[in-house]
Amino acid sequence: GLPAHVRIHEVGARDGLQNEKATVPTETKAEFVRRLADAGLGTIEATSFVHPKWVPQLADAEDLFPLVRDLSDLSGTALPVLVPNERGLDRALALGATRIAVFASATESFAKANLNRTVDEALAMFEPVVARAKAQDAHVRGYLSMCFGDPWEGPVPVPQVVRVCRALMDMGCDELSLGDTIGVATPGHVGRLLTALNEQNIPTPSLGVHFHDTYGQALSNTLAALQHGVTTVDASAGGLGGCPYAKSATGNLATEDLVWMLTGLGIDTGVDLDRLTATSVWMAEQLGRPSPSRTVRALSHQ
Ligand code: HMG
Ligand code: MG
Repeated sequence: GLPAHVRIHEVGARDGLQNEKATVPTETKAEFVRRLADAGLGTIEATSFVHPKWVPQLADAEDLFPLVRDLSDLSGTALPVLVPNERGLDRALALGATRIAVFASATESFAKANLNRTVDEALAMFEPVVARAKAQDAHVRGYLSMCFGDPWEGPVPVPQVVRVCRALMDMGCDELSLGDTIGVATPGHVGRLLTALNEQNIPTPSLGVHFHDTYGQALSNTLAALQHGVTTVDASAGGLGGCPYAKSATGNLATEDLVWMLTGLGIDTGVDLDRLTATSVWMAEQLGRPSPSRTVRALSHQ
């Protein structure tokens, strides 16, 4: 059966904005995060503490995070931030972050492109990050990119993905996010990966899914994941995003498209779709381009 409630992990302010050509002013980003919280999103990935030269769009993390961090007290909003290494962790903890995410790769090509490391060197880089974060009672998410296909290597074998998932869980991650970074997954493949993880005793409640909509399969893939017991789904308001270090990556699953489907299925998300759509229309105006989300277009008559 399907779950009664799905937790949406909103990534628009991070995965979305990291890939926009336009530089969004810090105050506009803060307003975006506040509006997302106001629309009922309980988990909003705020920014990344990565090298500013690697992701210039998020180079203002030190200025942005203090503008939004009160939301965790005001509305209980969880505000995870991306952290690749101990330097990033120091920066995040200094500003009071209590939720971090490390980001591994299932493939060597993307590990090199995104982290300048082999897969195992990247895991070794994350180990002290996760250990120190857990020692401070921070919540740790482990992203895993290229779980289905890789732009350089093609289809990614399920056991290769399972191995890195296992390593991230053994390291102490509280949850994983299975990334279809370039959007090539199809529902049968999603089912095979989730079944394999289940057979390795990786608990399904600790798994989230992160789909990109390149081939229009993100919602079908999400439904397949829900049927396999997943209850955490990543999505990006208005369908913003992609990934700067993966050619052919287009936008994430749009949060509005996800909420439309889940509402129709009678699954609660806590999200007010009208407020969220208004937020994405506003953000599209800031970026000077229409939202790619079908639901945003339908509801706003764009
Ligand atoms: P590197 O060049 O190997 O870095 O990059 P290094 O460790 O050799 O350090 C070089 C210099 O950078 C040093 O300075 C460090 O202090 C500094 P120096 O001593 O030479 O003056 N440095 C930093 N400065 C600020 N903040 C830091 C930091 N770390 C080092 N955190 C590194 C390695 C990991 C830093 C780099 O590759 C990087 O920043 N990568 C991030 C790339 C990224 O953010 N990608 C997008 C997110 S992943 C994604 O979008 C996928 C996802 O959505 C899921 C999916 O769809 O699959 C999550
Ligand atoms: Mg992504």
